[in-house]
Amino acid sequence: MKVLVVGGGGREHAVCWKLAQSPKVTELFCAPGNAGIAQLARCVPIKADDVEAMVAWAKENAMDFVMVAPDDPLALGMVDALEAAGIPAFGPRKNAAVIEASKAFSKELMKKYRIPTARYETFADMDAALAYVEQQGAPIVVKADGLALGKGVIVAATVEEAKSAVRAMMEEGRFGRSGATVVIEECMTGPEVTVLAFCDGEHLACMPSSQDHKRAYDGNQGPNTGGMGAISPSPNYTPEIAARCMEEIFLPTVAALKAEGRPFRGVLYFGLMLTPQGPKVVEYNARFGDPETQAVLSLLDSDLMDIFERCAAGTLDQADIRWKEGAACCLVLASGGYPVRYQSGYPISGLEEAGRSANVFHAGTRAGENGEILTAGGRVLGVTALGNTLEQAVSNAYAAAAPISFRDMHFRKDIGRV
Ligand code: AMP
Ligand code: GLY
Repeated sequence: MKVLVVGGGGREHAVCWKLAQSPKVTELFCAPGNAGIAQLARCVPIKADDVEAMVAWAKENAMDFVMVAPDDPLALGMVDALEAAGIPAFGPRKNAAVIEASKAFSKELMKKYRIPTARYETFADMDAALAYVEQQGAPIVVKADGLALGKGVIVAATVEEAKSAVRAMMEEGRFGRSGATVVIEECMTGPEVTVLAFCDGEHLACMPSSQDHKRAYDGNQGPNTGGMGAISPSPNYTPEIAARCMEEIFLPTVAALKAEGRPFRGVLYFGLMLTPQGPKVVEYNARFGDPETQAVLSLLDSDLMDIFERCAAGTLDQADIRWKEGAACCLVLASGGYPVRYQSGYPISGLEEAGRSANVFHAGTRAGENGEILTAGGRVLGVTALGNTLEQAVSNAYAAAAPISFRDMHFRKDIGRV
């Protein structure tokens, strides 16, 4: 099969790495890809969210299957457009991807189907939003409705902070159109766990749980990032909690989307908080998470292409999905200053040596003129190692990353230890 993967970060590198092992995949392409992906797939210089150009290229080059990884093209309906062009694709259609693209939609869905989540109200009127904040008190959480690159969430410790977040979103348009509607919700407490699940519209198959590390600095300090590292499985996710999540959250969500005429095919991302009252949904995403995917797919012992095909065809219940014992840890090596301001274009050394003991997935890299690998983004690499225990996986990831260096390299020292 000729297969195209859409995207170009660490998550897409992990997906390409796994697809390249499938006997079904004879030719692998990735758009736009990066310097690491280029070692496994032919990179095509089309932006991930250019739906028209992507579909035209896939048609012209007779792709047998397309895997759409990032949120933007899914929300724009890339899967719908591919299907209309007769190309089978992995990922939700636009009407199901809305579960990530609109927080107002996902909160309504949870309310209607009694799926546990934080209490909330949605506001299009600023004065009403400010009055609600006054009435509820702090701590309280203010969210911009649309996709705002994960930056549209303010966990406010005081009423004043919450009110200025509301004003920033609704009056100053800090998050563009995505802030015209805000969701204000109860502040939950407890450990956060991610569960990714393959879905075919009707059935779901959970992957091992995982845990992201969103803050930039050690001890969960500093600004939120796209993720500084991930472990899988999460030690907080016991079999009892997993069974409860399946019954109260996962199955009801898949059934709800189907009942609404929006069957979900692809990866459903459950961002959960294990609160004192039980597991609750923090957010849904309509795709593989990054960096969680780098850790989780490293544990997959089955043919990923076969799973993707079954998700698209509605036969996931017949899939044979096996996972390795043990644990995985993905350590992100970032550019100094990320996520605020950083330079790129610096040469990276030590990649080959690191690659002997771990998967070094590339997030933001490009090839220089002499074939050297240069930094090209905030998150640069995801060094992903396995171990018999979580502790071993963590120490293997740090040991594997030790030879890698580039100017101003920054990474957290406490992945898997907080
Ligand atoms: P989201 O983009 O909705 O996942 O929010 C980003 C982060 O904000 C989450 O990973 C949580 O750490 C935090 N957060 C979001 N909603 C809540 C909530 N209701 N209570 C406490 N923390 C939250
Ligand atoms: N790691 C969080 C996300 O992919 O949204």
